[in-house]
Amino acid sequence: MDRLTAETRIAELTKQIERHNYLYYVEDRPEITDAEYDQLMRELLELEGLFPDLAQPDSPTQRVGGEPLPFFEKVVHKTPMLSLGNAFNEDDLRDFDRRVRQAVGSQTVRYVCELKIDGLAVSLHYENGLFVKGATRGDGTTGEDITQNLRTIRSIPLRLSEPLTLEARGEAYMPKPAFEKLNKEREERGEPLFANPRNSAAGSLRQLDPKIAASRQLDTFIYSIGDLQGMRVESHSEGLALLESLGFHVNKERRVFSDIEDVIAFIDGWIEKRPSLPYEIDGMVIKVDSYAQQQELGFTAKSPRWAIAYKFPAEEAITILEGIEVSVGRTGTVTPTAILKPVSLAGTTVKRASLHNEDIIREKGLLLGDHVVVKKAGDIIPEIVAVLPERRTGAETPFSMPTHCPECGSELVRVEEEVALRCINPMCPAQIREGIIHFVSRTAMNIEGLGEKVVAQLFNQDIVRSVADLYYLHLQRDELLGMERMGEKSVDNLLAAIEASKENSLERLLFGLGIRLVGAKAARVLAEHFGDMDAIMQANEEELTQIDEIGPKMAASLVNYFRQPQAQAVIERLRDAGVNMTYKGIRVESGADLPFAGKTIVLTGTLAQMTRQEAEEAIARLGGKVTGSVSKKTDLVIAGEKAGSKLEKAEKLGVAVIDEAGFREILDNN
Ligand code: IVH
Repeated sequence: MDRLTAETRIAELTKQIERHNYLYYVEDRPEITDAEYDQLMRELLELEGLFPDLAQPDSPTQRVGGEPLPFFEKVVHKTPMLSLGNAFNEDDLRDFDRRVRQAVGSQTVRYVCELKIDGLAVSLHYENGLFVKGATRGDGTTGEDITQNLRTIRSIPLRLSEPLTLEARGEAYMPKPAFEKLNKEREERGEPLFANPRNSAAGSLRQLDPKIAASRQLDTFIYSIGDLQGMRVESHSEGLALLESLGFHVNKERRVFSDIEDVIAFIDGWIEKRPSLPYEIDGMVIKVDSYAQQQELGFTAKSPRWAIAYKFPAEEAITILEGIEVSVGRTGTVTPTAILKPVSLAGTTVKRASLHNEDIIREKGLLLGDHVVVKKAGDIIPEIVAVLPERRTGAETPFSMPTHCPECGSELVRVEEEVALRCINPMCPAQIREGIIHFVSRTAMNIEGLGEKVVAQLFNQDIVRSVADLYYLHLQRDELLGMERMGEKSVDNLLAAIEASKENSLERLLFGLGIRLVGAKAARVLAEHFGDMDAIMQANEEELTQIDEIGPKMAASLVNYFRQPQAQAVIERLRDAGVNMTYKGIRVESGADLPFAGKTIVLTGTLAQMTRQEAEEAIARLGGKVTGSVSKKTDLVIAGEKAGSKLEKAEKLGVAVIDEAGFREILDNN
């Protein structure tokens, strides 16, 4: 093919493919099959391969994801990306309406009511119609340049239908079916699951390798114009219509009302319809339509006065309790789990719910076969909040906890002061297996590729019977290759991950050993204080209790653990295998010069650039102590995105608050 023909064909294919993207992702009415679409893509890729200089910046082939980035550049937003004030009930909405009407006097007010999409805010920049840059919201003032990842989202036009220069803002999200599929695949691979579609969308867009975002089926809803050049728009609804005509995915479920009571009725309708949507919403947004009125109303320090977010109450669903499964944890605690008829709740299919302990079963009078109300507690673990006895048919049956361990058969005991039943056989296979699962988990030794299922297989086939065996697995390559779904490559990866974990700092190992009462935080305190494993093993109760945060019970548990010959043997085998036994972080000896020295700090909301554990580790390194709740004793609150009641409380008590950017600055300077 000659160059000219190729050029014409490339332009044609680009147009066709983008049209089909639009039909599929924005209009939801595809005209061709996936195979036909793939064929067009292949042809374009082939031509671009033959004539690389003809590949256009807005080519749909750009969507497959280019090379990984070393880091994300910072983007300062031209106008800050603010958040919204919240309304939690109808009266809050009526108050909002009153404030708006007071400010605009006798003019008519029109409200645009939209769904509040639960994803993450993004800003998209176009120059002369071409998508040039996209960023996260970050702290509102400065975000991160995630253009490479956003390009992979097919509902984001790479070229607008008109050559306009503008900034569009909206929400990137993961549709519920894509989320469920992703988590299922992760579960099969033994990878940690995402708690909800919002986290998985955020996690996907924060990857430096755009191929990951490209594989995640993300979508967008654009909800405002940040900046528009060479054109005047008078109202928000006009702006949305313009965005739609330019090729953006704008949510269709929006309505305009003049009366706040109609707004309330519309919202009520959505509380009902919410579960049937194929994406997550966490509320509704009500915006004054006229831009002139918006300007009159202005902003508070954090949010516009012309808009408000109505937050939905936590989502609940009714389903049937089909069974109760009893399992044994690593400390021998026996926990019942409700097996439910699968039901869709807050974006995920719920099949199990926590029952914590037997008392809850008794208190709630649960019978097998009962209709129950399930609710998402926090983010991921659903719980049963109520029983509906009025729905009983008479076929329901009572449940009683077993008297013997379901795994090893030994008699269960109720430990004093504890509600839970416990298996006290130290050789109970369930406890050993769960202990290994804990050891390899993300917060402990963080060995990738060793999910629960793989560990269970290794354990059941007698390949790994203690955590130390993991470090001798390279001697059992053939056995590994003989396991289900274990090819050469996965075995290599697994062995490499195990090898890498040898270098972990002491606190991970200490936490991983699963010593009773010793959590991640205590492990860090101990590692920091003693510096190496031997010193901890030799410490007596008195020395241990002298450390802040180590109480007498934990001290006794530590001494008791290290006294056991089996524990000593495991540690020796780990040491022989080359597992690091020293603390590698910064030791806080006096700590007086550190910025957080002696400070009690509360973390709240979601941090965009680090996990909670990383933030806690950083605070500890800088001398601070992290606590869970805000009180007068709190010195500082670090508030990420969507910080809620803790932030409010801090503000009420006059406790100092910094955002993620402020926190970063302290970290960078230290
Ligand atoms: S308007 C000035 N409209 O909700 C703020 N926001 O706190 C303009 N969100 O993170 C935001 N759906 O990303 C607006 N239809 C919608 C929205 C929406 C979701 C998010 C937004 C922000 C948060 C507001």
